[in-house]
Amino acid sequence: MNPHSQRKHDHVSICLQDDIEHQGTSGFDSYDFVHNALPEIQFDTIDTSVQLFGRTFAYPLFISGMTGGYDEAKQINGDLAELCSELNIPMVLGSQRSMLHDDTTASTFLITRERAADICLSANIGATEIADPNNLDDILRIIETVEANWLTVHVNPLQELFQPEGNTNFKGVLKGISDCKNKLSIPVIVKEVGSGISLSVAQRLHDIGIDGIDVAGKGGTSWSAVEMKRNSRENSEYFKEWGIETSVSLQSLKSFCKQQQITLFSSGGIRSSHDIAMSLAMGAQSVGMARPILLAYHANGIDGVKTFIEGMMKDVRRIMFLTGSEHCEALSHAEYTKR
Ligand SMILES: Cc1cc2nc3c(=O)[nH]c(=O)nc-3n(C[C@H](O)[C@H](O)[C@H](O)COP(=O)(O)O)c2cc1C
Repeated sequence: MNPHSQRKHDHVSICLQDDIEHQGTSGFDSYDFVHNALPEIQFDTIDTSVQLFGRTFAYPLFISGMTGGYDEAKQINGDLAELCSELNIPMVLGSQRSMLHDDTTASTFLITRERAADICLSANIGATEIADPNNLDDILRIIETVEANWLTVHVNPLQELFQPEGNTNFKGVLKGISDCKNKLSIPVIVKEVGSGISLSVAQRLHDIGIDGIDVAGKGGTSWSAVEMKRNSRENSEYFKEWGIETSVSLQSLKSFCKQQQITLFSSGGIRSSHDIAMSLAMGAQSVGMARPILLAYHANGIDGVKTFIEGMMKDVRRIMFLTGSEHCEALSHAEYTKR
């Protein structure tokens, strides 16, 4: 196995076996919706669909980038893609970095299109790869190979800092994203991996014309904790807990993204229907989950993931009813208070 594939395999195993979540939550549990005793809507006609970049999805939910690049990942990606097609929700591929260096890993990503030709699929590449101008042509090639509908770029300085073989040269990342975006006709989304995006970073991303921001904040999987499991010489509670909580990140970006027409995504520690609905109330247009999907898949297979997602969306509809929100846009105006 090449080193990139080996690392991805390690990440998935650690995320399945170890306690690598942040101690605190993503912050949504500090807020309550204000109950609406006169919702004046009919439960059966509540519409959970959302429009993202001109395409309609059944739910304000997507599967965040996780895997690819080694044998077992092929099965996981294929199964998840088929489910995303059935549920009509988007799927983000795991980092395609291994594809840059080793063509033999391509099938572990391409399986998504083979098993679900119609899904909305996001390509995924990391900050440090995109910062290197020598990679640009190869990055464009791997985006095209999977016929990506969107590109997601993950910016992960904390993870790289504690990754034993991490790349801590973050010079030129913004320019690299901008150069890549200028060559593409698909939407480009920038995400963190569990440390959140601040307003000033969002403003710099807006300056280069980014279409979407996924805050991927603190409160769920801690990528410094994952890397510390791979690096026995490092163990810092301080850095395991570093970052901006997802709810804090969202609230600080809500009006800016709305004004600038940047699509805002919420992820990082989304663990319940309350977290999904509160994300929408705090300005997100769609909400991503990673580790809980992997855990459900590991425990009960793809049917387990389906049951998990449908169960959560059933409760999101109930929350919509009890806040008088007939559709997802209405939920963005729902009242909430700090507990
Ligand atoms: C097993 C696993 C692998 C991941 N690999 C990637 C990746 O390759 N690219 C990426 O952008 N994010 C990756 N992530 C990060 C997630 O997309 C997400 O931003 C982060 O885990 C926080 O969400 P969560 O709390 O729901 O897990 C991965 C997450 C998991 C659990």
